Amino acid sequence: MTYDLIIRNARILDGSGAAEYTADVAVTDGRIAQIGDLGSASATSDIDAKGLALAPGFIDVHTHDDTNVIRQPEMLPKISQGVTTVVVGNCGISASPVSLKGDPPDPMNLLGEAKDFSYPTFDDYRRAVDAAVPSVNVAALIGHTALRNNHMDRLDRVATPDEINGMREQLRDALENGALGLSTGLAYASAISSTTDEVKSLAEVLNDFGGVYTTHLRTEFDGILDAMDEAFDIGRHAKSPVIVSHLKCAGAGNWGRSVEVIDKIEHAAKGHPAGCDCYPYSASSSTLDLKQVTSDFDILITWSTPHPEMGGKKLADIAAEWNLPLMDAAKKLQPAGAVYYGMDENDVRRILSNQLTMVGSDGLPNDPLPHPRLWGAFPRVLGHYSRDVGLFPLTEAVRKMTGLSADRFGLGDRGRIKVGHWADLVLFDPATIRDTANFKDPIQAADGIEAVWVNGVLSYQHKQLTGQRAGRFLPRSRDLRVGFH
Ligand code: ZN
Ligand code: CU
Repeated sequence: MTYDLIIRNARILDGSGAAEYTADVAVTDGRIAQIGDLGSASATSDIDAKGLALAPGFIDVHTHDDTNVIRQPEMLPKISQGVTTVVVGNCGISASPVSLKGDPPDPMNLLGEAKDFSYPTFDDYRRAVDAAVPSVNVAALIGHTALRNNHMDRLDRVATPDEINGMREQLRDALENGALGLSTGLAYASAISSTTDEVKSLAEVLNDFGGVYTTHLRTEFDGILDAMDEAFDIGRHAKSPVIVSHLKCAGAGNWGRSVEVIDKIEHAAKGHPAGCDCYPYSASSSTLDLKQVTSDFDILITWSTPHPEMGGKKLADIAAEWNLPLMDAAKKLQPAGAVYYGMDENDVRRILSNQLTMVGSDGLPNDPLPHPRLWGAFPRVLGHYSRDVGLFPLTEAVRKMTGLSADRFGLGDRGRIKVGHWADLVLFDPATIRDTANFKDPIQAADGIEAVWVNGVLSYQHKQLTGQRAGRFLPRSRDLRVGFH
């Protein structure tokens, strides 16, 4: 028989964390058809990998690409890293189901402008993704803050029972249509007034569908352990797995506490499915949050609606220029975006290397001066942290971005190089792979990504888009209740 594609002589990192081996991989109808020595078998497209590494396409489990997968379906920041699937709807903010009353409330403004929110139901969003045919597959969480926006006149209070019912209905409808689960962003002003009980009432719906609960904790600063307790309490109540988003120890007072934080999550994971994602940098980024304004470390302003000319300057320098205290300068810049150099490198390494940790970029695709994680997170884990620093073997780095991620988010037939699985594949050079994006020059495609296939279609090669796109909307395909008896 003739296969659609054979990739010969590849170093296979299969996504499970198991030892690598050398083999040929054949693809037909978008799926992996055969793995082994394919000798004289023929294919429409026959490629010699020359001993480079072949891994499952990377799954970016933490993104804010909700509207970008439709508006900029090339998705160059992601496909150029070898990412073949993005999970959108993180941190309590999703593009659907959303009906706005005016401008999107902070931090929903990270996803786009009012005109970009045109998906009142999840089904509208799902159809728009499929119509756009992005270069990457898209799976979606439903944001708690998005639901609050739909049902509440103001977000600085707890929701009433009626409002909670309205939110539950919308969440249920989305889960019926293939959403992966519920996300919260409890640290943000738009959600911090919600109680644990409000979130529990929503999360209860997850168990009917085997969905997942992901959370940007109520705080990543001094109270982080309590915030983690709240997350696991919600997960246990909902009988649903918990993913802590971008786990970190934020703020100078918190440096070194990753030991306690890891203890806490490992302990929780013994009795309940729990995990986390992490981006490989010691600086964070979001909208400019007055609660995070400090002189303990540098804060870089990336954009400001009233003062766009201040993009790229440090908050301290802007304050000096305006002759204002830091806080007053921050208020004057809002709405704005910022990078906070507020983590300790040792904490980042301890969290990233834990076996429960997945890689997620948390990239902000609409920021004019985006944190370099948008273009560099995955190659940085493979090149910098695995190869150069030696934090973990390459097989483990790949597991954190493929097999583990597919398991945690219920993405069936993805995340592994296995016969019958979808042919989301990335061919890369372990010796040269490197993130080139940095804080000064953040819009840079990584080195060392040789070729990327999505559903068997060659989509990126030689640092260029091929012009073919084959991404799809991915409904939740696995029931994550497994393990609850
Ligand atoms: Zn977040
Ligand atoms: Cu996020």
